[in-house]
Amino acid sequence: MFVQVIERCIKSLDDLKQVIIDIDDLAKRHRKYGVNKGHMKIAGKALIKVLEDFDDEWEKQTEEAWLFVFSLISALMKRWLPDDLVKNNEERCTLQ
Ligand code: HEM
Repeated sequence: MFVQVIERCIKSLDDLKQVIIDIDDLAKRHRKYGVNKGHMKIAGKALIKVLEDFDDEWEKQTEEAWLFVFSLISALMKRWLPDDLVKNNEERCTLQ
């Protein structure tokens, strides 16, 4: 699901306005699921780790490209998400 949305965003880059509307809708649904800003960073780390584990040709450049795309989507979604109520939640995440 995660990766499908990101792929769809990349494929629809010629219609950025629609991409942003779709991401806003996705973020509003996530707000209802109870997701907050802190979760986004943890999910980003987890996504990169999973992608790396499944890609034998993973390079620093691959990581940078994914980080860039994830950061964009995450920044757009976080506009609609509440702050993390637990201080330093990110530091409790053990993924490196
Ligand atoms: C780039 C970030 C993310 C993307 C692209 C993404 C994408 C999706 C998609 C496509 C769905 C299917 C339902 C829907 O469209 O509303 C979904 C559901 C969900 N996501 Fe995310 N998500 C992201 C981040 C997160 C984070 C950080 C959390 C919380 C840790 C989260 C928790 C959930 C939950 C709880 C559901 C509902 C699952 C269910 O009821 O079956 N997501 N997400």
